[in-house]
Amino acid sequence: MPERFLIQGGRPLRGDVTVSGSKNAALYAVAAVLLTADPITLRNVPRIADIHEMAEILRAVGTHVEVEADGETIHFHTPEITSVVPPAELVTKLRASFLVMGALLGRAREAECPPPGGDVIGSRPLDVHFVGFRALGATVQRRGSSFHVQAARLRGGRVFFDYPSVLGTVNVMFAAVLAEGVTTIVNAAPEPEVEMAADMLVAMGARIRGQGTPTIEIEGVPTLHGADFSIIPDRLEAGTYLLAGCATHGDVRVTNAIPHHLDSLTAKMREMGVTVTEDASGGIRAVADRVLQATQVQAVPYPGFATDLHPPMAAALTQAAGVSLVHERVYDNRTLYVNELRKLGARIIIGGDSVIIEGPSALSGSTVRALDIRAGAAVVVAALAAEGETVIQDIGHLDRGYADLQARLTALGAEIRRV
Ligand code: EPU
Repeated sequence: MPERFLIQGGRPLRGDVTVSGSKNAALYAVAAVLLTADPITLRNVPRIADIHEMAEILRAVGTHVEVEADGETIHFHTPEITSVVPPAELVTKLRASFLVMGALLGRAREAECPPPGGDVIGSRPLDVHFVGFRALGATVQRRGSSFHVQAARLRGGRVFFDYPSVLGTVNVMFAAVLAEGVTTIVNAAPEPEVEMAADMLVAMGARIRGQGTPTIEIEGVPTLHGADFSIIPDRLEAGTYLLAGCATHGDVRVTNAIPHHLDSLTAKMREMGVTVTEDASGGIRAVADRVLQATQVQAVPYPGFATDLHPPMAAALTQAAGVSLVHERVYDNRTLYVNELRKLGARIIIGGDSVIIEGPSALSGSTVRALDIRAGAAVVVAALAAEGETVIQDIGHLDRGYADLQARLTALGAEIRRV
């Protein structure tokens, strides 16, 4: 039988939890490795399945990968690109795999990839990526079920994105760092993970300005060199633990976070009546010792409330008094978790692009599924707040995104077993 989590809920989470390196930022950093023939060391890499899948893709195109015993330090070296066609069965496992398109286009001027895999959370088009590649002089063509990109010469250009796509911004940045001349991306994604990817490229010798803002300017250079680079903390993982603390009326402190990356969450938690304090060393403590109040949330691009925290936030709001609303404005299918929360007794319905939650609900244990990474986070948060035992199936999704989830929750006083 596939592995499951068993959670005995109904007890407040209390204590400190150290945040891992950011899943998404680490995935971008691993892809960036392809842009240089020199060795790269990445530190603070989260120990999650998606990173290993991404490393497999790199191995298939010529990268030597060596993971240190701590699992968080990884050495990469790609003296030569040995293939510009990464295996389809690996690419279709995760969304971030599509970044090898931009990286291979930059380094080898050619790449061929099928549409990437990833969570079924909406239509997730790729048009922004292709608009960017074409603006740099590349041709993009369909070859069977794959996309083929090629450029005899890459030349910088001005690119306007219809939508500030996160992976689209990183992909175009990857191709532009080794192009001739200056590329300007207008309506770029300002997410901290994109900013970090740009900072890593700068550490490799790239010339980039404006990362972390909607306009990024990249001046191409002939080659990039090696670097030793540390991944930023995972704001989504930090947010998930803070929300689990909140849903259980607990007292959780995350350490090694970057508090301003979580402003949109902590502002909402304060509205809910949670006492949130931050310290200069990257700690955020959330004490939920009063009746939680309902609130309204809009999931939008950064610095607005993160769509990836929408499902665990909705789970926490089942414990807040009154009617809450979460309006999803990034994805058109983010609400797979709603039915699962209903199985635990939540009063939650979908109305158009919004989810409406009436609380507080006395949740009770049941059997539920982790249908994608963040839908999984929602059922974990709800199970921790529910009386009795919850069985969580399909936990492979949680392993993709949350490092050592069981150990971290146990340290906070949760009763959770993997069977
Ligand atoms: N979009 C377009 N055109 C495009 C690309 C995207 O219209 O060419 C639209 C999509 O339809 C969607 C929205 O843009 O509605 C968001 O897509 P985006 O491209 O920004 O997302 P992504 O880059 O595919 C990354 C993260 C997601 C996270 C989003 C938004 C990775 C591997 N994935 O996806 O993370 O939700 O940004 O912040 O970095 C997760 O970690 O669980 C996860 C799904």
